[in-house]
Amino acid sequence: MFLTLSLLAIATVLTVAALIYKLRFKYLIDVTRDIPSAPTLPIIGHAHYFVNKPPRVQIQKLNELLEIYGNTMKVWLGTELNVIMGDVQDVEAVLGSMTFIEKAGEYKRLEPWLKEGLLVSGGRKWHKRRKAITPAFHFKILDQFIEVFERESRALVANLERECRLQSNSGFNLYDWINLCTLDTICETAMGVSVHAQTNTDSEYVQAVKTISTVIHKRMFDILYRFDLTYRFTKLARAEKRALSVLHGFTERIIMQRRAELLRAQENTLNAAADKNSTNGYNATDNDADVGAKRKQAFLDILLHAEIDGKPLSNLDIREEVDTLMFEGHDTTSSAITFFFYNIATYPECQRKCYAEIVDIFGKDTSKPVTYEALNGLTYVELCIKETLRLFPSVPLLGRKVTQECEINGKVLPAGTNIGISPLYLGRQESIFPDANIFKPERFDISNDAKKMNPYAYIPFSAGPRNCIGQRFAMLEVKSIVTNVLRHFEVEFVSDGTEGPTLIAELILRTKDPLMFRLKPRI
Ligand code: HEM
Repeated sequence: MFLTLSLLAIATVLTVAALIYKLRFKYLIDVTRDIPSAPTLPIIGHAHYFVNKPPRVQIQKLNELLEIYGNTMKVWLGTELNVIMGDVQDVEAVLGSMTFIEKAGEYKRLEPWLKEGLLVSGGRKWHKRRKAITPAFHFKILDQFIEVFERESRALVANLERECRLQSNSGFNLYDWINLCTLDTICETAMGVSVHAQTNTDSEYVQAVKTISTVIHKRMFDILYRFDLTYRFTKLARAEKRALSVLHGFTERIIMQRRAELLRAQENTLNAAADKNSTNGYNATDNDADVGAKRKQAFLDILLHAEIDGKPLSNLDIREEVDTLMFEGHDTTSSAITFFFYNIATYPECQRKCYAEIVDIFGKDTSKPVTYEALNGLTYVELCIKETLRLFPSVPLLGRKVTQECEINGKVLPAGTNIGISPLYLGRQESIFPDANIFKPERFDISNDAKKMNPYAYIPFSAGPRNCIGQRFAMLEVKSIVTNVLRHFEVEFVSDGTEGPTLIAELILRTKDPLMFRLKPRI
């Protein structure tokens, strides 16, 4: 009797909940009826496929569902409506438009570190910042960073030479070394200072970057850490607080130092001009001021000079943007470089061609530094980088939020819908890229089919107004690093016998197990 009553009570509660749910979400369900989806479970929708599943399983499931239910489909996570787009026309309508520039809710996970920096912000704030920051990526600025790419990639080669002497048959994890190199590079180009990550892996700043990356991933993918109410009592939350204080403290100190240096340089210039007028002759401060003016500019210096609505950016504004560059500018490139080596090692003919091109341009003298012009001449290496980013896009999933109900190619998207777009899924579409799973750099050769390709089908740097502001920087950095490594070593992939690496589509694409390499010094 008690059991029957209990079952009845549970059934009633579930029915009432289902009814409320139906009524509340009837509108959403009705207007999106024409968008296909897998069958849903009451209340949770499709959450059972994704919530608390490892990212490796989530991406597999998403791709499976897209294959079955069409290139644009709905995914209900409880009451949250997500539309996943794999149809190039739909992708173009979203990425190509200024209507869809707001980021999806998941980007909030980045806010503790990046606050409202360019990657996360939306609306007018994003628009004005983007305009103010764009000059920082002018080729004249990028040109002066080549010297940093050169220096840091040579430090990487030195580390790899040591690793090479110690390596066993099972090889070693190249990613870790590359990641330290790209961290040093972005730190120096963004802030004008070095954290010496490659020589001091224990540095507080380096450790804090690692901690915060772990926190972001765990908060996105592990249900234990998703809810603010319970998260704040966890050990991870305490580690996050400590790491944030290190990261923000470091950036703030550098901003204040640089602001003070600039002020001093300006005062020196003014004093020098005044002295010149009074003495009408040479003065030692001429030289000092010159040195200040000619010093290599970091992104930070450009931000210190930038204005929005006629006002300079505050220290906090600048910190948001410098931190954003630090975050967006190092894991992305290390993922691309590691997959580049994986590809050319598994396709040795491509490695041979890359090396031949490098020797053709730089000769065999490994001490000859890379230059902007020489890097631009590396056309085959560039094809290999592009093909790597098709198969292994560093950012495997992009998200947008619909702010006002709209229609895209006949599909109604209600306000509040999250849109998901997967460069990884698009890059492996057989209909767009024949032999999609094969590494074929020539497909990007403009004398071939590349001309006909819809630019929204190949989107490792996203596309449209919110595309990657750092893509030319990234290309130059990746080319510098792979050039200097390939000048010194032949790269071999140590296969674990499986068909290919198991991909994990976290914020940045990675593999379930580290990719292991052996290096053979070139004689
Ligand atoms: C291979 C390397 C890289 C790849 C594949 C890549 C890819 C991307 C993608 C896909 C986006 C759009 C993200 C989204 O909509 O959620 C993006 C945005 C961005 N990237 Fe990159 N990125 C790379 C390197 C860099 C570097 C080196 C920098 C800085 C030096 C950078 C700075 C940014 C910034 C600031 C944004 C936000 C732009 C905005 O919303 O206006 N990225 N990147």
